[in-house]
Amino acid sequence: MPADLQIAIDGPAASGKTTVARLLAQRLGVVYVDTGAMYRALAYAALQTQTDVDNENALVRLFDQQIRVSLDGGAQLGFRVFWKETELTQDELDTPVVTAVVSIVAAHPRVREAMVREQCRIAAEGPVVMAGRDIGTVVLPNASCKIFLTASVAARVRRRRAQLEMAGVDVSAHELTQEIEERDRLDETRKNSPLRQAPDAHVIDSSTLTAEQVVDEICGMIG
Ligand code: DC
Repeated sequence: MPADLQIAIDGPAASGKTTVARLLAQRLGVVYVDTGAMYRALAYAALQTQTDVDNENALVRLFDQQIRVSLDGGAQLGFRVFWKETELTQDELDTPVVTAVVSIVAAHPRVREAMVREQCRIAAEGPVVMAGRDIGTVVLPNASCKIFLTASVAARVRRRRAQLEMAGVDVSAHELTQEIEERDRLDETRKNSPLRQAPDAHVIDSSTLTAEQVVDEICGMIG
């Protein structure tokens, strides 16, 4: 595997980025990071410490002092993210309260700078598959392969609902549609690094594809 292999996978909420990125990293035997989990970890820490999510300086301090990522493909998430000494689980990162505030946390320019700095440090260590919203545009602008993964709102609602059901949470399709559309709006309209397709990204619509099929398609591209 070339030491400088970088694969950037961006796309809207519930488009299948994390599943695809993780599978792809496993297939290639390289490191995987879902940057959404880093923003979620900071939102989680802010809620736990009663830090005001509008207080940019306090959030940057919290991130620098209390959030840490470590790379370990065997971990539950495919890597580890810690708040102080506690490793955060998928369920903790995915709670509705975290989801409700994470877009606010992610909109602060200095929070994004701190995140991008850490993500670049991780990527400098070796081949990586990174998923997020601004990977191909900001974090890894020179990535070897950039994918913009989309799916219809209906397909994304179906997937998110199935995921939540597995975690024992029942949310109506109507509520999820509203939540996904609102997150799209916030992610696409924020001033700093809004969700945008990099001009050199390959667009894959995963509405009718399995994660395996998407991974096959990406593997075909990188040869
Ligand atoms: O992919 P996700 O739903 O776990 O992302 C959580 C939030 O973090 C989402 O509102 C967008 C934001 N995010 C971001 O702004 N930039 C990234 N690289 C990754 C996520």
